[in-house]
Amino acid sequence: MLTGKKIVLGVTGGIAVYKAVDLVSKLTQAGAQVRVVMSEAATKLVTPLTFKEISGHAVAIDMWCANPEFNVEHIALVEWADLMIIAPATANVIGKMAGGIADDLLTTTILACQKPIIICPAMNSGMYNKPAVQENLQKLKDWGTIIMPPAAGHLACGTIGIGRLPEPIAIVEFVKHYLAATEGDLRDLTILVTAAGTREAIDPVRYIGNRSSGKMGYAVAKAAADRGAKVILVSGPSVLKPPASVEFISIESTQQMLDAVLEVYDDVDVVIKAAAVADYRSRKVENQKIKKSGDEGLNLVLDKNPDILQILGQRKKQQILVGFAAETQNLLDNAQEKIKKKNLDMIVANDVTLPGAGFNADTNVVKFLFPDGQVTSLEKMPKSEVAEAILDIVREKSKK
Ligand code: CTP
Repeated sequence: MLTGKKIVLGVTGGIAVYKAVDLVSKLTQAGAQVRVVMSEAATKLVTPLTFKEISGHAVAIDMWCANPEFNVEHIALVEWADLMIIAPATANVIGKMAGGIADDLLTTTILACQKPIIICPAMNSGMYNKPAVQENLQKLKDWGTIIMPPAAGHLACGTIGIGRLPEPIAIVEFVKHYLAATEGDLRDLTILVTAAGTREAIDPVRYIGNRSSGKMGYAVAKAAADRGAKVILVSGPSVLKPPASVEFISIESTQQMLDAVLEVYDDVDVVIKAAAVADYRSRKVENQKIKKSGDEGLNLVLDKNPDILQILGQRKKQQILVGFAAETQNLLDNAQEKIKKKNLDMIVANDVTLPGAGFNADTNVVKFLFPDGQVTSLEKMPKSEVAEAILDIVREKSKK
């Protein structure tokens, strides 16, 4: 999303200005071109030379500079830019923005800017919570400025509270999410993804589970969010961190997954069911840990769980349903059978016995099958690329 994006970064004189240096570095690493405009106060804290070296461009500071990089610099900068970010944004610059004041190069550039402006307020909690600042922020929001809320934690003044400039990586994620939501090719879709394995309790200590890591489902959720979709990720237990900017619902059992999925099903456009769902549960879940008794084995009676995807298939209206089929034999026949039985639009089939495919691997070897019998075979590739390929098809199908 940031590749080739032209960003004017406005830097004001908050103590967090040192983080703005790293922000320039992170934005350029992500493929953006960055030009920095500093307020006079910011130059007291970090030298313009630092920003010049990191951004690869001269830093604009002074309205009255004898040799500006551009003629009528504030106008040229905003014409060049796709987007403006102000980080850190002090109470002072926020006040000037809300008051329409343009008394230096930075505030004049901001006032001239017709492109989206994202601001990252950073200041002491007391200042941040003052009605003047809050009202100014509200005013800017009402005018269409995008505001990234400050983080909470240790502040330079020695107190703990709200007002920290978020870490540069979080600002980059915020900007990417904003761009995805406004420009991403899936921005009109709400996509429900299920991931990881469900677990069925036997007693307070033990459960029936499976080998799913969640990697495939999490990759789909991330790729969909990066392309602007509103993503709801319903996941069984996994060591993976949910991707930023997805709505995350954590569940454990198949019944809990079914309940969570049905809660949102009517309002989603697409369901991608990558979860490995436990087909059976123990009829009796003991309240206490089951103890070994003599040399006898242990008999567990299992009841069948609902087939979530089949239920979704029966209730299907506008939704595009994508299932997964993890097989160890007769891949194509088994997968084709599941398409029919579950009323799917597509199934992603993989033979989990192949090297580089299936549980816990970072790659997968899959085939896409469709209700009309068509089959597309993909090479072994990272799960992130499989995710993109699935979403490309979803994009096409959702246009029809
Ligand atoms: N699935 C589901 N609910 C279940 C079982 C499976 O929603 N109780 C979904 C999975 O998330 C997957 C698809 O159905 O998208 C196929 O799952 P899979 O485990 O391969 O097949 P099953 O239908 O369970 O059949 P079998 O275990 O006999 O292969």
